Amino acid sequence: MQERIAWNRGWYYRPSPAPGDAACTPSVAGFMPVELPHTNRLLPLNCFDEQAYQFCSCYKKIFSWSPDWAGKDVFVDFEGVMAACTVHLNGHPVGQHTGGYLPFTIELTPWLQHGENVLVVEVDSTERPDIPPFGHVVDFLTYGGIYREVALRIAGPLRIERAMLDCPDPLAPVKSLRCRYSVASRSAGPAALTVTLAAKADPGKILAGKTFPVALPERDGWCEATLDGLTDLQLWDIDNPCLYLVQASLQCDAGEDTFVQTFGFRSARFTTDGFVLNGRRVKLVGLNRHQSWPYNGYAMPERIQRRDAEILRRELGCNIVRTSHYPQSRHFLDACDELGLLVMEEIPGWQHIGNAAWQAQACQNVQSMIERDYNRPSIILWGVRINESQDSHDFYQKTNAIAHELDAGRQTGGVRYITRSELLEDVYTYNDFTHAGQAEVLRPQKQTTGLDHPVPLLVTESNGHMYPTKSYDQESRVVEHALRHLRVMEAALARDDLCGELSWCAFDYNTHSSFGSGDKICYHGVCDMFRNPKYAAYSYRSQKSPAEEIVLEPITRASRGERDGGGTVPFYVLTNCDAVRLYKNGRLVDDFTPDRSAFPHLPHPPVTVGHLMEKELDFGLPEEDGRAFRAFLIQKVTAGTLLVMGADDYAYIGQLAARCHTTPAKLYGAAVKAAGGWGEDANDLVLEGILNGQVVCRREIGEKHSYKTLQALPDDDVLVADGDTYDATRIAVYARDEWGNPLPFVQECVTVSIDGPADLLGPAQFPLLGGCAAFWIRTINQTGTVNITVTGLSKQAHCAIAVRSLRPVGSGGKRTQ
Ligand code: GAL
Repeated sequence: MQERIAWNRGWYYRPSPAPGDAACTPSVAGFMPVELPHTNRLLPLNCFDEQAYQFCSCYKKIFSWSPDWAGKDVFVDFEGVMAACTVHLNGHPVGQHTGGYLPFTIELTPWLQHGENVLVVEVDSTERPDIPPFGHVVDFLTYGGIYREVALRIAGPLRIERAMLDCPDPLAPVKSLRCRYSVASRSAGPAALTVTLAAKADPGKILAGKTFPVALPERDGWCEATLDGLTDLQLWDIDNPCLYLVQASLQCDAGEDTFVQTFGFRSARFTTDGFVLNGRRVKLVGLNRHQSWPYNGYAMPERIQRRDAEILRRELGCNIVRTSHYPQSRHFLDACDELGLLVMEEIPGWQHIGNAAWQAQACQNVQSMIERDYNRPSIILWGVRINESQDSHDFYQKTNAIAHELDAGRQTGGVRYITRSELLEDVYTYNDFTHAGQAEVLRPQKQTTGLDHPVPLLVTESNGHMYPTKSYDQESRVVEHALRHLRVMEAALARDDLCGELSWCAFDYNTHSSFGSGDKICYHGVCDMFRNPKYAAYSYRSQKSPAEEIVLEPITRASRGERDGGGTVPFYVLTNCDAVRLYKNGRLVDDFTPDRSAFPHLPHPPVTVGHLMEKELDFGLPEEDGRAFRAFLIQKVTAGTLLVMGADDYAYIGQLAARCHTTPAKLYGAAVKAAGGWGEDANDLVLEGILNGQVVCRREIGEKHSYKTLQALPDDDVLVADGDTYDATRIAVYARDEWGNPLPFVQECVTVSIDGPADLLGPAQFPLLGGCAAFWIRTINQTGTVNITVTGLSKQAHCAIAVRSLRPVGSGGKRTQ
């Protein structure tokens, strides 16, 4: 039976190589103790030298041989080391690996010694041109170090390495499950393979199971069995991501092994008529994600990886993510499987295609990616081209062939920005950056593909560099950013020949000097690097069903002085309510409804508030004239011409004044006042969300507000002290007014202090950017309460997080080294 031991604690690290490292001496002089995931250097938020993390470093692990290992095979499984490494055990080279995004295994058995053992991992985090994605420029940073988890694996004479599970006809009422296991055995011969199926939600209840006689291969090979006659199974779907556990137990005279694999029954197909999931058309709407964070680069543990999937699926309501531009953490993908977030996963690369050896490595990446993630129901498309590269017939024939041979069930794509490029994949995946704010939003299919027949088409990027936006930019920019995302969504939803679209991108990210805003940041996210939402995040969030969450987000600074030329209208409310009822200074203005004429295909078009003219205005006019005058004013305000009246307008006001015994000047003055104009008192606006005739939510915005509270909002209240590695969570910091609105122009510096068993994963002092910030804390192998204080110039915020043990009191618990 294989034993897997999390091997993330007790490492030593030195940020420079030394000539004697490979000798594996037990000395740790000059090293610092670290835990994995580990980044080779903590970086500043921005404006750093991009060479800062591109260096060679050394990791050391000292461990004791265990008598339990006698006669067994011992391996180390690395989940991700950036970008290449050489591994030595007790002075012997035991393996090496190139490529930072995929797992690899190093066998230790022959060089293990009784007593103390020393493992050294020399890590090269430079941008070596022989390793994809390197060789030219790349619009993201790759950071460095052993940035994903490591495990020690001890195996007997028989071991199951991995599973490949397939359901040939998932939509049939009676299903079958083909289970293939990659097996390593010391000797060939007969064995018994028992396969059982249980729902992940109820693992104790076996739904089906059978024992099959199988022939063990000599050394490495495959054992196969098919469970059939499976009934009453639920499909995995985006709204019901039902998962099953398939357990295999392999037994022979020499030994046994067990392997549990998560699986979901679903069919997924990109067609010329759209994407079809389980027989029904689903329009794909989502975002691209980089797996990076401020300061720590790629090195974040499970909970933080999972959180990104939660943000995308639960908060923003996306149904697809693209792991741009490389395979991402298994924790993120686990969460995608569990949350019903579809995934396009792709090999590492960015525009550049290297020489034959480089291409061979890219082909290897296709294989490793598929082997790692074959069983994930969330993955619906393999990206087998280098993102945005030129056509390369032979190379891409190979990558496609590898993918198809390994995985006959999934289609391939390959992201291109060149129209009419050669289609060797099943799906034409294209970055369509057409939308630049004008009427044209997405290219017609024929223009994109140049083909005379329809093909399955997916837009894999839009927006991004077309409109970089910081959360603290001027109102017009943050609003236009949100509208552009809505326009692309609308255009995609309107087209039956398009499977969907993914915009660029979920989160701002650090990048190289030749990209971004000159500070090593691409401000392309709908959320900032800290995962705090910009207005554009609500373009997605407001499309969710109100049954899931009621959203009512006025995307305005609600101030007459913020816009060029002044004024507060029109402003937009991103909402999934039927209407927004608006009150100004306590008096009803109107009910405003979603703009279905501009956005006929969005589930929830934005609501445009075009004017602030109260319903019951007293202009001192007879009732009918008053109503007509209000209608005239609304039309002027909506057209933006209240302050630039023409001759006809003056004539109308003149006649009205004469008829009603008042003066044009008085009417004009009253009109400007009613419109909430310049020089008038502050406006207080109350917005009520109306759903099925009921008021279901309320927001108050306006000018008469001030900075009232500083908030510290943890994503989690409870962390685990003794899991596979350290645990972590994010604490968002917000400056808010008396109504709870964020204050995007509060830029004060805050200081974090922590009392209890946790450390900061970044600096303790930082400014609020866009009125908000966030920081991450990590556990330090102790339980207790973490009391956190965030101190600003005049305010403080507090929160507390409990750190608990997984082990029942008094138990030995599970082993971690
Ligand atoms: C694309 C590219 C992305 C990112 C984006 C910015 O061309 O694929 O990686 O650079 O532009 O909008």
